[in-house]
Amino acid sequence: MTESAAPSAEQLDTGQPDTGRLGADYFQNPLAYFSRMREEGPVAPALLPHGERVWLVTRYPEVRAALADPRLYKDWAGKLTSPDWVPDEVIGYLSVHMLNTDPPNHTRLRKLVTKAFTARRVAGLRPRVEAITASLLDAIEARAGAGEDTVDLVEAFAFPLPVTVICELLGVPTEDRAQFRRWSNAMVASEGEPGRFRAAGTAMFHYFTELVADKRAHPADDMVSALIAARDASERGDSGDSLDERELIAMLFLLLVAGHETTTNLIASGTLALLTNPAELERLRSDPSLLPGAVDELLRYVNPLNHATDRFTLEPVEIGGVTIPAREWVLCVTSSANRDSGRFPDADRLDVGRDAGGHVAFGHGIHYCLGAPLARLEGEVAFGALLSRFPSLSLAADLATLRWRPSSLIRGLEALPVRVR
Ligand code: HEM
Repeated sequence: MTESAAPSAEQLDTGQPDTGRLGADYFQNPLAYFSRMREEGPVAPALLPHGERVWLVTRYPEVRAALADPRLYKDWAGKLTSPDWVPDEVIGYLSVHMLNTDPPNHTRLRKLVTKAFTARRVAGLRPRVEAITASLLDAIEARAGAGEDTVDLVEAFAFPLPVTVICELLGVPTEDRAQFRRWSNAMVASEGEPGRFRAAGTAMFHYFTELVADKRAHPADDMVSALIAARDASERGDSGDSLDERELIAMLFLLLVAGHETTTNLIASGTLALLTNPAELERLRSDPSLLPGAVDELLRYVNPLNHATDRFTLEPVEIGGVTIPAREWVLCVTSSANRDSGRFPDADRLDVGRDAGGHVAFGHGIHYCLGAPLARLEGEVAFGALLSRFPSLSLAADLATLRWRPSSLIRGLEALPVRVR
């Protein structure tokens, strides 16, 4: 789920001309850009605010097809770099995860963790997700009881819920979550000094190296220990699956970052969407059976990711009548596809009763989100509990003052001040 590990188009020297740049206001309102682009055509080249040259695919049919197109690759380290390229610690250790690989490597890596994320296995986590949710809401209620009835919902709820769940699942100490948040935010940011990305990556790499050493010495009933066992079995040659030490670290990194960066934004942006559409909020509150469908509608509407992660071409590839040259970066703009009225009638309207099936907020094709069942469960529990616990929940800031994080990939609020009573 990280975007900045890959070298920029300029570093890779693709030799293609530059085109229009998305302005600095892109982060605050990306959908405005995408809706204009979608009107003009399904595919167009652009420069992201930080200078990365990409081809943006913006209409629903082309986005869905491109996400499953085997001519769009992900393994840039293996396919775009020169033979004498030597990865450094951060790139070499953190980026060899399944989102940066193509079959057969992708198939092998994904298979190692698929079982832990099936709908059935995830359903078993519901009581724990409900308990974590209840304790976070208790803390908010206690603060309100002590006179503090305005809280930042990101800080108090939307961030700690998914990060606690994924930490427990992996076996990562929950008390380290504030640290992850800083590292992870630095790694998905598209602004700030370049050194921040590297420093955060290095810190995460050292953290996971130590964690693996510790779990190797003291195995527990968690996913880190299970992956270490799979890795050690493959080292001894008694397992068909293989996972080298770098892949093990990268897997943990991916699961931890992907497991919370996105769901945090579903909860925070979803709450904002409901608060600014009071009729839909009331509809959902009065009929909780709408919840599972509403979570998918909120995913479609708020899009925790602006676009899927980077893909690239190796030969000229035609999409929607436009030929993208070889060795170019392609972004499938899932948020734009989800607002394509050709696919979702009146797409800019939030409708918690709509059938939002087929939305591409979780991607499509072989990289379809591994954590989708977990994210849906967390969304359902979080919205259900929040709405019933705080019947007079309201926005405690002027809408125009809310700031979105400066990331091309992540669509997330910096903070969401709400009044709980
Ligand atoms: C609302 C929450 C979430 C959203 C919107 C989301 C979105 C996505 C998307 C769009 C992709 C595909 C990216 C691409 O094709 O470039 C993806 C992949 C992935 N997601 Fe999620 N995700 C969410 C939650 C989670 C959670 C909770 C986990 C838990 C570990 C997770 C783990 C992953 C992994 C491992 C992949 C890579 C799959 C592969 O390459 O085969 N995600 N996610």
